[in-house]
Amino acid sequence: MSRTTAIIAAAGSGTRLRSDTPKQFLELAGKPVIVHTLERFQAAPSVDAIVLVLAEDRIEAYRPETAQIAKVTGIVKGGDTRAESVLNGLTAVDRETAIVAVHDGARPFVSVDEIERTIAKAKQMGAACLVAPVTDTIKSIRGSEISATLDRQKLRRALTPQAFRIEVLRRAFEMADELDETVTDESYLVERLGHPIELVEGSSRNIKITHAEDLAIAEAMMSRDR
Ligand code: CTP
Ligand code: MG
Repeated sequence: MSRTTAIIAAAGSGTRLRSDTPKQFLELAGKPVIVHTLERFQAAPSVDAIVLVLAEDRIEAYRPETAQIAKVTGIVKGGDTRAESVLNGLTAVDRETAIVAVHDGARPFVSVDEIERTIAKAKQMGAACLVAPVTDTIKSIRGSEISATLDRQKLRRALTPQAFRIEVLRRAFEMADELDETVTDESYLVERLGHPIELVEGSSRNIKITHAEDLAIAEAMMSRDR
């Protein structure tokens, strides 16, 4: 039991981006977003296997695309929410897996270094979350008014990957009473278990493509990298 498996969640429909094609299949620098993401995990030495979670109607169409990516050992269908999709992915992880790294398919700029450091920390401590600083001043609100200003030194934005010993993640999902839209990452479930989660400092380049304007930013970042 010493393998590390990445679960890549790519079964969403991208409602906020408002494109007919879900954002993870849109082309960025000539390749679908999800292919960029998969290539980063393929290139990460600590990752032994990748389980890809896709909407059911995409699975057959995507097999040839993923055949190029040797570490993909399974493609499973997603659920109604991100958390359900990740749970489906977890059922397809092989029995030799000790560490699971969960990642958003819509984050194609994750670096190999971020993947490696997050997995290394999870191996050491049991749970690790990649984070980035908060640059704006964050307000707490009540209705249409500001109720408080939060100390941003004490805030981080949760990125992915987030990596866990498999038994920690399994227990976190078992304890969760609902896997609705409010469960936007795995750390939230692991926090509720009371298991400490180590921070791993990540880059603000590791954006999640969410709104249409993110595509233009992503295209510019890709072309600068080439
Ligand atoms: N995701 C998933 N299964 C779902 C919902 C989301 O696998 N039922 C994946 C998305 O494909 C994405 C990641 O989880 O890679 C992060 O979610 P988000 O950015 O919210 O993507 P969408 O849910 O597709 O977008 P939106 O919330 O705007 O509809
Ligand atoms: Mg969503």
